[in-house]
Amino acid sequence: MDTLTLRRPDDWHLHLRDGDALRAVVAASARQFARAIVMPNLKPPVTTLADALAYRARILAALAAARDAGELDERAAAFQPLMTLYLTDNTRPAELEAAARSGMVQGVKLYPAGATTNSDAGVTDIRKVDAALETMQRVGLPLLVHGEATDPAIDVFDREHVFIDQVMEPLRRRFPALRIVFEHITTREAAHYVRDAADGIGATITAHHLLYNRNAIFTGGLRPHWYCLPVLKREPHRLALLEAATSGNPRFFLGTDSAPHAQRLKEHAAACAGCYTAPHALELYAAAFELAGALDRLEGFASLHGPRFYGLPVNADTVTLRRAAWTIPEQLPFPGDAIVPLAAGESLQWKLAPAA
Ligand code: DOR
Ligand code: ZN
Repeated sequence: MDTLTLRRPDDWHLHLRDGDALRAVVAASARQFARAIVMPNLKPPVTTLADALAYRARILAALAAARDAGELDERAAAFQPLMTLYLTDNTRPAELEAAARSGMVQGVKLYPAGATTNSDAGVTDIRKVDAALETMQRVGLPLLVHGEATDPAIDVFDREHVFIDQVMEPLRRRFPALRIVFEHITTREAAHYVRDAADGIGATITAHHLLYNRNAIFTGGLRPHWYCLPVLKREPHRLALLEAATSGNPRFFLGTDSAPHAQRLKEHAAACAGCYTAPHALELYAAAFELAGALDRLEGFASLHGPRFYGLPVNADTVTLRRAAWTIPEQLPFPGDAIVPLAAGESLQWKLAPAA
């Protein structure tokens, strides 16, 4: 098989940043995907409907600028950002009701305070947001969860499965009709939890967690471009994620968690967390699915299961991947610096064909 045609996919978890960084990265996602759920962890965070609408306008302006600069054709320039709000201890139920009514906000992101990049405004105790969660449950606004326990005493590699016991499961019991996306799952425990749970839960899985285990961070030296949160785990976890992604179960869908940081902040004594995968996302996923002998399951995972969870239409058009070896660039442009894509300098065996 040398070509693979899929319904046009979407990215259900993406960091687009803002300002010049947004302008530098938005075209990469627009070439790959029709839509994306855009994460709200800006500085300051996107906490209100007004913030989300203003951010959406800046994304659309960056897309128009990329199209005018000849970086995007019309189809790609029509990329749709799907907006999210950042949940804080002080999020007002009325704000969530307005967001749901607007039809412009697809979810609300729970960052446990201190869990990751720009999470200091996040939720300090899940009990403080009961009124917000009750409102979301009532109006049908999904909760998108960064599922890591934040107690510094907990080992970094255990934070996801501890979160399931301490937060996720009690939360599900208290709000059984709240729709939840367990974002960027990284462990067998999370994959099995989502697989076996009652209805109303889904999970995104990144390409890097399907392709790499934690050895990748330490191969030939300390490699910050493989550092993200939740951090890569042991091989049995990677295998469990691959099994979930390729199972055909509609609860699992594509979310790159592409998280751009300037090269100097990645190659740093305290390297920022995040893998930049937007430019070659589909090719990375195709590599993972091919390794599992499951290329026939890629379309469901990439293009069908996400819209089904979010209650959105499947994209009408298609994309085609061709078998052709190519090398991931060492660096790409980024304001005041460069950005290093994940697996820079390595080769991939599939390439997304330009739109017909
Ligand atoms: O690796 C990560 N990078 N994980 C996150 O949760 C946030 C993200 C970012 O915004 O850089
Ligand atoms: Zn993320």
